[in-house]
Amino acid sequence: MWRRDLTIRILRTLVFMQSEETTTAAERAVAEHIVGVGPWEGPWPEDERYDPELLERGDRRNVLDRYRYWTMEAIVADLDSRRHPFHVAIENWQHDLNIGTVVRTANAFNAAAVHIIGRRRWNRRGAMVTDRYLHVHHHPDVESFAAWAREEGLTVLGVDLFPDSVPLETYDLPERCVLVFGQEGPGLSPEAVEAAESTLSIEQFGSTRSMNAASAAAIAMHAWVRRWAFGQRV
Ligand SMILES: C[S@@+](CC[C@H](N)C(=O)[O-])C[C@H]1O[C@@H](n2cnc3c(N)ncnc32)[C@H](O)[C@@H]1O
Repeated sequence: MWRRDLTIRILRTLVFMQSEETTTAAERAVAEHIVGVGPWEGPWPEDERYDPELLERGDRRNVLDRYRYWTMEAIVADLDSRRHPFHVAIENWQHDLNIGTVVRTANAFNAAAVHIIGRRRWNRRGAMVTDRYLHVHHHPDVESFAAWAREEGLTVLGVDLFPDSVPLETYDLPERCVLVFGQEGPGLSPEAVEAAESTLSIEQFGSTRSMNAASAAAIAMHAWVRRWAFGQRV
């Protein structure tokens, strides 16, 4: 504990040694290991994207610095203007703890939306409130989910390790698709497999039968990002 205090004091001294004009609120927050920024200093900005309450009290949310002091609505609108066209879906029959992490990763990659198939309630803990900046839809069963995907013209791709799954590593992902993940115990349901155009597997090299759904989802979403945000062909 004393080491942390000492480090903070040294960093504060270093910050103090810089001229006040060149030290921003963000830099001071980093030096003091505080997430976010304190109350706005100087004349308030006119832009309506700024939230008066955050300007007054400071902004400690887990958002990029460019969104500091913005209203949640303004952040969502900005993300909406550049969402990627892939969607993510996960089956939720037994309150899978992976869902929150899947949502957080979908936010990080700016997926079009996340779809929860099955139970409406899901454990939000791993999401770290990222779900507020993302569109999360609920479908009571695979049938209604598949009907929605058809209407949207999205290719449904199941992601699971089946003997006849196609390796994700060699599959050319379509731009407009929805990647569907299964539950911790049973994996993808037979209905979800039936609804999918193909099932894709992530190659493993160790002894475990599978990884958790959140890890698999992160790998699959990143495969889409490599293909369509970076143009890397398999
Ligand atoms: C823990 S796994 C399900 C268990 C699996 N059915 C088994 O036999 O052990 C949960 C979900 O993670 C995803 N998953 C895990 N490992 C995967 C892999 N290597 N390739 C593709 N998907 C995977 C799938 O969506 C799967 O439904």
